[in-house]
Amino acid sequence: MAHSIPDDTIRRIKNAANIVDIVSEHVVLKKAGRNHLGLCPFHVEKTPSFTVNAEKQIFYCFGCHTGGNIFSFVMQKEGVSFPDAVRAIAGRYGIDVPARHLTAAQKEQLSDNERLCRINEEAMRYYQRMLLDARHGQKAMNYLLGRGMTREVIEGYQLGFAPARWDGLLRHCQDKKISAEWLVKAGLVIPRKEGNGHYDRFRDRVLFPIANLSQQVIGFGGRVMGDDLPKYLNSPETPVYNKRRCLYGIHKANRPARAAGRVYVVEGYFDVLAMHLHGLDNTVATLGTALTPDHVQLLKGMVGQAGQVYLVFDSDQAGIKAAQRSVTVFEQGFLDARILVLKSGHDPDTFLREFGPDDFLKSADKALGMIPFIIDAAITTHGLTLQGKVKVVSEVQDALVAVQDSVARTLYIKELSERLQIDESAILDKMRHVSGQHQRQAPSAAGPAVVFAPADGRRLEQQIVAMMLCYPLMIPEIVGRNLTECFEDLNLKEIAKMIVERGAGEQESAADIVSLVDDPAYRNLVAQLAVSDCHWDRQGCERILAQFEMRNQRRGREDLQRQIEEAEKNNDIDLLSRLLKTKQRQAGKGLINL
Ligand code: UTP
Ligand code: MN
Repeated sequence: MAHSIPDDTIRRIKNAANIVDIVSEHVVLKKAGRNHLGLCPFHVEKTPSFTVNAEKQIFYCFGCHTGGNIFSFVMQKEGVSFPDAVRAIAGRYGIDVPARHLTAAQKEQLSDNERLCRINEEAMRYYQRMLLDARHGQKAMNYLLGRGMTREVIEGYQLGFAPARWDGLLRHCQDKKISAEWLVKAGLVIPRKEGNGHYDRFRDRVLFPIANLSQQVIGFGGRVMGDDLPKYLNSPETPVYNKRRCLYGIHKANRPARAAGRVYVVEGYFDVLAMHLHGLDNTVATLGTALTPDHVQLLKGMVGQAGQVYLVFDSDQAGIKAAQRSVTVFEQGFLDARILVLKSGHDPDTFLREFGPDDFLKSADKALGMIPFIIDAAITTHGLTLQGKVKVVSEVQDALVAVQDSVARTLYIKELSERLQIDESAILDKMRHVSGQHQRQAPSAAGPAVVFAPADGRRLEQQIVAMMLCYPLMIPEIVGRNLTECFEDLNLKEIAKMIVERGAGEQESAADIVSLVDDPAYRNLVAQLAVSDCHWDRQGCERILAQFEMRNQRRGREDLQRQIEEAEKNNDIDLLSRLLKTKQRQAGKGLINL
């Protein structure tokens, strides 16, 4: 792969990094035998088939057949290039990646996405300096302190201030040799309509940098300090920023949420900061959109399948709307969420300031699951008159249809029928009608599934490769008996050759091989074989090798027989006698009658 990162740096990163830690940033893992298991971050699933092997530094999902090493994990999870992934991991382990002295050509190759993040980071530093510099940022700082923020929070979340100028950032970036064209791509400046020059998007606003899990800055939100509109101005969609795919504060909330097994989802930037301020740092915010399937995947990555997700709203109405809109998304993501509505129109920021975190936690304890919340809300709205009941059922039925777990669905229907004093079968009838209309969509098992349903020989070849990965001590024997030479599957043959060349006994050879295999299907296969539980003892290994040898010999015999018949048919006496001699020689070695 053409990149600018020295091999020994990559080696140092590999030595320092642990795939279990890296994957744990996104997936809740549990130890299971030699492996760690969790819910796959690359497809929607209910039971864990995502496997991580610390010994070999490899991951593989038995559900969607994605596999690889630390670098491919970060590349796929964050959608970044190899060098970006290397830098992201290096950053976590405090390893410097000496890539500053790039040639012009190499600079060209720096991926666009990474460049955009770096530009955002440069902008963040500029805004941050403006805020902390009293000459520019006094008013903004007073605004933040006035809203109860502390210096710790202001610095921790790297808040900034965009001065009231048309070219503050523009000039700063000119000095840093960042072109206006790239600033436009990053959404930080806007071309003038007249076509002459550009101007800063964010002016006279307090700025909230938005980061991803790898701590890269992907966008900004900016709040006015007075009553101007819009109250918040956000980065536009860019190649790195899509509000449907990110959550404000995730870079800070991820660890505490994992530790607590719980995450709060709030609506506003200030709510995240206020929660953090009150010790509830397992909090993220949506960025002015309803929850999407991507959000649900992110949340599941933070707290796991059994984790608690609390959606916090400032009014019943907002809660109801959100619950109705999100129930399908959560159900299809196999994740439970509770709806927490704070009393009398408070958002978390104002609630915490007035009542403190203990009251907040008490309200959280009373929060209902989505379906019970929707049922409750519908009954409160429509009452229990005859007409009311009809309305309740039709309001709730969509949500009930969305419930994936049939046991849970049955229980909800039972509860509803009891509360409304209506026959369960009547509700069921109504629902069947709805689900017929909807043609309910099954959750998609995403990803190009390469299914290996190997024939016998191919299975043995796979087992031998697995053996080479799991028991490197067997490699000399496998090489000595020339077994890999007989592989039918040329890709497996190539992989076996790589393993031999990488040197036997190297613990992480599987992780290395993964980065050498070009064909993604086979890359995944290597990962699969490396995490597969092959618990053979020496005898077991020998048996597999013997089986494979026998199969090769049988194949050789069959081949020879075919050639003999062919030669007979063609009356090729010369060839025939040569072939018969070979057959005799083999028989002499006792190979024929085995
Ligand atoms: P709210 O209007 O509820 O404001 O917006 P807030 O978060 O309580 O803001 P403060 O406390 O007055 O500062 C909730 C969220 O919706 C998005 C922002 O992400 C905001 O935090 N929003 C709101 C926008 O993107 N643009 C807007 O103009 C308003
Ligand atoms: Mn608010």
